[in-house]
Amino acid sequence: MPGVFIKTYGCQMNERDSEAVAAQLVAKGYTLAPSEAEADVILLNTCSVRDFAEQKAIGKMQNIAADVRKNRPDVVLGFLGCMAQSRGQELIDKLPDVDLVLGTQKFHHAADYLDAILAGRRKKIVDVALEQGSEATIREHLLNGNAQKSVTAFVSIMQGCNQYCTFCIVPYTRGEERSRTIPDIVAECRQLVAQGVKEITLLGQIVTSYGKRANFSRAGSPLPADGGASVPASRLVGSLAPPNDSGAHGVTRPTLQRSPFVQLLDAVHEIEGLERIRFTAPHPKGYGGDLIEAYARLPKLVESAHLPVQSGSDRVLKLMHRGYTRRRFLDLVEKLRQVRPDIGITTDIIVGFPGETEDDFEQTLSLAREVRFDNAYIFKYSPRRDTPAAAMPGQVPQKIREERNHRLLETVNEIGKRKYDAFVGRQTQILVEGPSRKNSTRLAGRTRCNKIVVFDGSDRHRGQLMDVKITRAGSFTLYGDPAILE
Ligand code: 5AD
Repeated sequence: MPGVFIKTYGCQMNERDSEAVAAQLVAKGYTLAPSEAEADVILLNTCSVRDFAEQKAIGKMQNIAADVRKNRPDVVLGFLGCMAQSRGQELIDKLPDVDLVLGTQKFHHAADYLDAILAGRRKKIVDVALEQGSEATIREHLLNGNAQKSVTAFVSIMQGCNQYCTFCIVPYTRGEERSRTIPDIVAECRQLVAQGVKEITLLGQIVTSYGKRANFSRAGSPLPADGGASVPASRLVGSLAPPNDSGAHGVTRPTLQRSPFVQLLDAVHEIEGLERIRFTAPHPKGYGGDLIEAYARLPKLVESAHLPVQSGSDRVLKLMHRGYTRRRFLDLVEKLRQVRPDIGITTDIIVGFPGETEDDFEQTLSLAREVRFDNAYIFKYSPRRDTPAAAMPGQVPQKIREERNHRLLETVNEIGKRKYDAFVGRQTQILVEGPSRKNSTRLAGRTRCNKIVVFDGSDRHRGQLMDVKITRAGSFTLYGDPAILE
C-alpha cells in the first residue's frame, strides 16, 4: 500500500487537519511513512499567516521535487491547507512537479484524489472550492498512530473567522465562520474518552465565536436560501444544548443566557472520564461574563488561557480592528485571575504593525510587564495579500521590526523566567502525556496552567494525573520528581 508522509506548518488547527487526513488515508489502507525518503505521497500542509511560513513550504517543496523527481518520478506531491487555498493553481504554475493542491474545505477528499492520481486516472488536481458542511468533516483521529494510546486529543469545533483583523489572512484562507453542532462535537469527544483520552482541546480559529453564525450544518436539514445567516443563534443551540442545569451553587440558570461556546463547554464537561478541557484560540473580546464564570463553575476547565493581545496601544488596536482596548484587556486578565489566581496566560503580539510608533511599541512593552504573561509568541508584522493593513501608510522598516522583536522578546523571556522559577519547590498536578520530546528516556506531562514538566518515570505513568514536586526550571520547561505522598 502507498506510504504517505505529511509535513505540517503553522498552528494547532493545521496539526489537527493533518491528523484527520492521515487517519482518513490509513482507514483507506495507506501506511504512514516514517520520512519523505520512504514515502509514495508527500503532502505539505501549509500556513499563510506570515510570508515566511509560505516561503518555507515553497522552498521545502522545491527541494523535495528536485530530489524525488530524479530517482522516484512516481511520487505524488501535494500542497494542502491555507497556502493551497489562497494560491490555488498558481502553485502548480510555479512548481509544475506538484500534483495536488487541496484547500481548507477539502481535506476529506484527500484519499479520493490521491487514489485517482496514483491510479493514473487523473494527473493534476486543484480543488479550493467552498464546501457547505465541511466544518464537520475534520473528525477522524489517529489515536494509535504511534502504537501508543493518546492521552490528549484535539477536536475541531468550527472553521473560519469573521473578525477581519486588518493584518490577518485567515478569513480569506479559512472562510466564513461555520460551527459544528454541540451533539456532533460531544459524540466525538465521548468516543475519544472511551478510547482513553483524558484531556481534550477544543479548536477553532476563533472559538469564542462558536455558534454565533447560524449556519450550522445539520444532517438532513438543508440550509435556508439565504445560507442561514438570518437564523437566530438560539435556534441552533436551544434544542441541542443540555437542559437547564444547576450551577455549582445550586442556582438554576436558563441555558440560553449562556453563549453557545459556554453551552458547548458545559456539555463537554459532562463527559465522564474526561479530566481536563482546554480550548484555543479565543478572542479577548469574546470573553463574556458567562465564560469567566465558567472557570469558576467547571473544574475540568483548566486554568490556562491563550489571549492574543497583538498590541498594547489603543491606537494600534483600533487600526488592527481588534474590538477591545488596552484597558478592557487588562480588566479581562484581572477578572480571570480573580476567578483562578494560578491561571497561566499566554499571548500573541505583533510588532511593527503599519503606523506603529516608538510610543505605541513602548505601550506594548509596558502591557507585557503589567500582565506578566507566562509566555508570548511575538510576530514581526508581515504584509499579507488582500488584507487592508498591507496597503496602510507608515509601513515599518524591517530593521525596526527586528529591533522591536528583539526588545520585546527580552522582556517576555525575563518575565517568563521569573514565572517559571516561582514554581521551584512547589507541588503541582500534571497529566502525563508520554516520553519527553527532547529526551525520550524521560517522561513529560503538563500542568493545568499548561507548563511542561519533565521527570523520571515509566510508561505506566502515561495517562495518569500525578502530583510532582518541581525541582528546577529551564527555558519554558519545568523539571520535577513524583511527589511521594506519605
Ligand atoms: N503578520 C505577523 N503576524 C501575524 N499574525 C497574524 N497575521 C499576521 C501578520 N500579517 C499573528 C497574530 C496571530 C498569530 C497566529 O499570528 O499574532 O495571533
